[in-house]
Amino acid sequence: MARLSLLTALSLLASLVSAQCGGTADATVDGSSGAYTATAGSTELYSGASYLAAIQAAIDGITTGQTVAVLADGSIGDATITIDSGKTFEGCGTIDVGYNAGHGAIEVLNAADVSIPTLTLTGAPYFGLRFYGVTGLSLGDITMNLSGGIGIRFDRDEAANVDVSMGTISVTGASSHAVETWNIDGLTIDSVVARDCGECGLLLQNTRNAQVGLVDGDNVGGTSGYATLRFANTNGLLADGSYDTNVYIDRVVSSGGGRGIFCVSESGGAEIGNINLSNNGNNAILIENCYNLAILAGTVTGGGEVRLAARAEFANNRDVSLSLEVNGNTVREEPCGENSNIVITGDAAVTIC
Ligand SMILES: *[C@@H]1O[C@H](CO)[C@@H](O)[C@H](O)[C@H]1NC(C)=O
Ligand SMILES: *[C@@H]1O[C@H](CO)[C@@H](O)[C@H](O)[C@H]1NC(C)=O
Repeated sequence: MARLSLLTALSLLASLVSAQCGGTADATVDGSSGAYTATAGSTELYSGASYLAAIQAAIDGITTGQTVAVLADGSIGDATITIDSGKTFEGCGTIDVGYNAGHGAIEVLNAADVSIPTLTLTGAPYFGLRFYGVTGLSLGDITMNLSGGIGIRFDRDEAANVDVSMGTISVTGASSHAVETWNIDGLTIDSVVARDCGECGLLLQNTRNAQVGLVDGDNVGGTSGYATLRFANTNGLLADGSYDTNVYIDRVVSSGGGRGIFCVSESGGAEIGNINLSNNGNNAILIENCYNLAILAGTVTGGGEVRLAARAEFANNRDVSLSLEVNGNTVREEPCGENSNIVITGDAAVTIC
């Protein structure tokens, strides 16, 4: 250490600080219960009892291209934080949130190039994070330990979204979905890890050109028909009306809960590389009115029937291929789909067309 030059020591220190959460922030929220401050450089933006007001003052006090870091822990109550275009929001502390009906605890609406590289939420929100009309949204590592609500939600009836990326999204205890999308063109996700969530782990709807690493659900979907991974409502349908493959999922792991994988209501255009489904309480896999879905490899152990089915209101399944080892379960295609290609090994009883 004595041989280290002062300059080397300083640059080491600088890189340590910048690697820390909040290390490069232009504005920070600090303090603790009852006494919070928001500061940008030498300017005090807020000082008082409200954690919510301190956070919003910090966001409103920076300009596009700048970063806010919330260093303090606290509770925002039944309220909403809004982040506008071009801003980066780092949640370094733990933000406890409440229930604001129809709203997210944090919202980014009709905005471009917002980044949330790290965030930890607790509480029972209506939505943890709510989005619509976003382009170039980047979410990093997001942890939500919830006691209710939906983790992340992109709205159905509002402007569509373009170029969304997510790192690792870990959601525990949502009463509904961990992550629910609508209307995204261009989505990448490293992983969604859902534990003890009431409905879906990852629910993709009317979303196209998507690339997802891992979807991992344990006790997700409870006694419902929801699934660790669900495609619904024309997911994977391209603008030209085709279902050419455009949704890629590397791996799905699901244990217990409701369904494992569920493709429904005119969705498809998807390839799933590898799966490991065990002891799902409802269908391990249900494929219903789904077009061009391939599951390339993996295992299903126990759980409810692997089923290809159809509702009368939409065209039957077509271009479904499964290549799986299934044990302690059954596989059934009824009614017959068009151009199914189903190859099953293992001890499952198989009834296909
Ligand atoms: C969130 O839950 C995980 C797993 O139960 C736990 O390790 C972690 O400490 C929790 N974090 C917070 C902020 O509650
Ligand atoms: C699949 O998951 C089950 C249950 O978690 C685990 O016991 C098994 O080792 C996994 N199999 C593979 C091939 O990863």
